[in-house]
Amino acid sequence: MSFLISFEGIDGCGKTTQIDLLADKLESKKIDYLVLREPGDTSISNKIREMLLNNDNSICSESETFLFLAARSQLVREKIIPSIKKGKIVICDRYYDSTLAYQGYGRGLDKNIINNLNIFAINNIIPAITFILDVNAEVAYSRISGNNVDRMESEGISFLEKVSKGYKQIAKSNEERCNIINCKNKDKFIIHDEIMIKVNNYIQKEIL
Ligand code: TYD
Repeated sequence: MSFLISFEGIDGCGKTTQIDLLADKLESKKIDYLVLREPGDTSISNKIREMLLNNDNSICSESETFLFLAARSQLVREKIIPSIKKGKIVICDRYYDSTLAYQGYGRGLDKNIINNLNIFAINNIIPAITFILDVNAEVAYSRISGNNVDRMESEGISFLEKVSKGYKQIAKSNEERCNIINCKNKDKFIIHDEIMIKVNNYIQKEIL
């Protein structure tokens, strides 16, 4: 049993907490898994991550898009495909929906072009399940804003609102795969339980 699960949402939505809880659950059930994050997790993708997040860099939206896609292309071929071939469940902290949400809806680039570039980058590796963690943009922004905001986070709250709307559109167009999880004022364990119901349903379907 091997498949890809992606976690999406605006900065500060709590993806990492939920990924950690899911990983602990898989670990306790002795299910083989791998957690990856985007951009990053290969040697070249980590270098690209540094470029993308460094506040000293001025990057136009088109170059930004290509850099995220380059990091993804490498991750797919170097880590995701080999791990799926080994039978692992791969959990991605962000994947191709991030580019449509941030560069398409956030930056306002042509969504058809982004969709086509994404297809080129991912080599047919589409997540079986995508969780989009929905939080209030103001709450999310208050979690990330501080002294150490990176280049993407420094875009501010109105940018996050556009991205958040984008994720809702993406979910509407991909109802089979995408699950919007309403995280507003919810305890992390309640959110985890909702995620586990979806994951268990999918695993059951795979086994039967
Ligand atoms: P990161 O520190 O990993 O943020 P988070 O914990 O919220 O995932 O930084 C990744 C940033 O890059 C984040 O602001 C989202 C953004 N991003 C894009 O704009 N496009 C993309 O395709 C991806 C993968 C990320």
